[in-house]
Amino acid sequence: CASSPMQVSIAGAPASGKGTQCASIVRDFGLVHVSVGDLLRAEVAAGTENGKQAKEYMDRGDLVPNEVVVGMVASRLSAEDCVENGWLLDGYPRSEDQATALASTGIEPELFLLLDVPEDILVERVTGRRLDPETGDIYHMKFKPPPSEEIAARLTTRSDDTEEACRHRYKVFTEQTEPVMRRYGDAVVRIDGDRAPDDVYEDIASTIKSYKESRVAA
Ligand code: AP5
Repeated sequence: CASSPMQVSIAGAPASGKGTQCASIVRDFGLVHVSVGDLLRAEVAAGTENGKQAKEYMDRGDLVPNEVVVGMVASRLSAEDCVENGWLLDGYPRSEDQATALASTGIEPELFLLLDVPEDILVERVTGRRLDPETGDIYHMKFKPPPSEEIAARLTTRSDDTEEACRHRYKVFTEQTEPVMRRYGDAVVRIDGDRAPDDVYEDIASTIKSYKESRVAA
């Protein structure tokens, strides 16, 4: 309903630009960014049981087992900030079982953004990606280089950002995640992600705005 906070999901192949676009969406629409990959990386970094279980799957590019992921996402989405402000769910659901588990908690994303990018472009994006551990900003050595020497010196890479793991993640995406999109029917909006980030975002922002207006009108 128009007065309830928006619940938006975003999906796309590895390095299709989900994290990059989520930063702009959060800035403009005030939704809480819930990235399942980020939640898992935080568990790995903290050395929790979940993190220990997740790491080998992540490094290979396989989906982490549902025993770890499903409860983690459900509890994050029921936290006060998500309930009050609405959420932007990044990287979930990625399989039929996860979609079913999400529905069983009474949640169906109202709007599902799907970023389309060809496989060979993804490999170049993955291998050039760098992350700023202090700000969480995402860079690319060719497409979005760090703005200063100081920032460049502290950038890190992800352990799954190899060509091999990227190609495997892409296979997992086409086999397990893309089919799930059919379940969400008209809620899915495909966005051409093979353009400059600002052009991609222009489409995303106008899609979310139109969706917001349609809720008010309904
Ligand atoms: P996750 O962290 O979600 O990784 P992913 O889906 O592979 O996506 P990425 O984070 O690699 O890329 P992105 O689309 O956010 O792209 P970005 O904006 O950084 O998941 C990692 C792992 O966690 C999974 O493999 C799995 O093991 C586990 N996991 C996660 N969710 C799970 C689930 N539901 N169930 C089970 N396991 C799960 O951009 C990439 C690069 O390209 C950057 O360098 C950026 O600067 C650059 N770039 C971005 N946009 C553009 C553009 N338009 N033009 C040029 N360059 C661009």
